[in-house]
Amino acid sequence: MILSIESSCDDSSIAITEIATKKLIYHKKISQELEHSQYGGVVPELASRLHAQALPAILAECEGWFSKLKAIAVTNEPGLGVTLIEGVVMAKALSIALNIPVIPVNHLKGHIYSLFIEKEALLPLTVLLVSGGHTQLIEVESYNVMHTVATTMDDSYGESFDKVAKMMNLGYPGGPLIEKLAVDGDASRFSFTVPLWQSPLIAFSYSGLKNQVRLAVEANDASAYPDIAVSFQRTATEHLLQKLKKYFKSHPPKRFAIVGGASANLYLRGRVLELLQPFKAELYLSPLEYCSDNAAMIGRASIEAYALNELSDYQNISINPRCKL
Ligand code: KG4
Ligand code: ZN
Repeated sequence: MILSIESSCDDSSIAITEIATKKLIYHKKISQELEHSQYGGVVPELASRLHAQALPAILAECEGWFSKLKAIAVTNEPGLGVTLIEGVVMAKALSIALNIPVIPVNHLKGHIYSLFIEKEALLPLTVLLVSGGHTQLIEVESYNVMHTVATTMDDSYGESFDKVAKMMNLGYPGGPLIEKLAVDGDASRFSFTVPLWQSPLIAFSYSGLKNQVRLAVEANDASAYPDIAVSFQRTATEHLLQKLKKYFKSHPPKRFAIVGGASANLYLRGRVLELLQPFKAELYLSPLEYCSDNAAMIGRASIEAYALNELSDYQNISINPRCKL
């Protein structure tokens, strides 16, 4: 079995996965959403202290499996430096105490392998990764061959929901709050310009849309927020759709997946499903509980790394907060 640890942002999570069967034996996650909510976003130093409390509390439930562990997997990149270090230090301590190697796991690969929890990997696959930190279109060939086709020039899709929610004093994370607010909105009242709609670039940008929304929020009272939310969600998603459409012209999709915390958005799921229909391409999604950050996806990814012998000595593992794929 492999014990995996995730602490790249505001979720403290540990999982235990059986190597041969890929079965998830144990999984627990303690989210810090409530603690960060009053600040409208993640406060790194607070997140770090909360991991230092939550991770040992979760680990205490795992002691019965220690004798069966072959390795400790841990997210070591990308993420917040002060929170990644909490998981990595725990992995090092376990590695010394149990005399087993560490498997460093890239968080983005974790999101991709959230599709394959308790399953065989189905590759190649075109993946749209939409989380709080990333908006990327990725061609996934195998665990170690992944090509980033497009990325964001500034904010990410999920982050733009967080920032709009903050402008409206709704709390954090903004994604589910904005999606819920948008249900009662009048979609015809506000019209925002789709980012980069005239640009031939296959890239993403959300800072301009954020500023358009800010002006609308400032010019109206709270009764207009559902109307602003529905138009914002439509425009933010339309931007993804336009760029996917452009990419699909030269690279028709066969298998397509959306992963990351924002892949929980039902409007986005519906729009992508429509887009895929003429291509007869299948849409793959992770179960809702594994869309946002969790250690089960890190455990699943680490099984691939284990098979490839990507094992590390506790002395050689370090964090890489800004790394991509
Ligand atoms: O993957 P994740 O848990 O953390 C990162 O790796 O960043 O993603 C969290 C992000 C937050 O920005 C959150 O607002 C967004 O995912 N999110 C959503 C929805 N649920 C979560 N965004 C849009 N619609 C949602 N329903
Ligand atoms: Zn994530």
